[in-house]
Amino acid sequence: MHAVCPGSFDPVTMGHLNIFERAAAQFDQVTVLVTFNPNKSGMFSSEERMELIRQSVAHLDNVMVDSWSGLLVDYCTAHGVTALVKGLRSALDYEYELPMAQMNKRLSGVDTFFLMTDPELGYISSTLCKEVARYGGDIDGLLPPPVVAAIRAKVS
Ligand code: PNS
Repeated sequence: MHAVCPGSFDPVTMGHLNIFERAAAQFDQVTVLVTFNPNKSGMFSSEERMELIRQSVAHLDNVMVDSWSGLLVDYCTAHGVTALVKGLRSALDYEYELPMAQMNKRLSGVDTFFLMTDPELGYISSTLCKEVARYGGDIDGLLPPPVVAAIRAKVS
């Protein structure tokens, strides 16, 4: 079975990577899909985000990376995907994700599977990492090493 892990991934974090690894252990094939969120403006281009994810998932044989600027469900329909996988860090994530999961289900029948974030990764977000990095704070261990280097290059 083929699952999609969708998100902005601006940039990918250790929290995201943990979800990709766990999804890859449960599904035959996983596509990490860089998807456009009209409510967020980014630090990295879509191409840069994809390349950083590719470098971060190089150890996972059944994971590929793609991007999409339309409705997520249209990508799923075009590729015969019926499962989305996302991580849930908190009740805040749940409130944000529930309507999207229900909308996607209504639009195309695709189901969303939620994995509970590992507790030691629960406070990591792309937004917070970028903010800490902008002020020169330590982001080691929060993001895959190529991403740490890429953020440092952007903010320096
Ligand atoms: O990482 P994010 O920003 O929380 O991910 C949200 C994302 C990109 C998955 C969501 O905004 C999305 O699916 N965008 C694609 C456009 C779409 O299908 N919108 C309707 C969602 S119900």
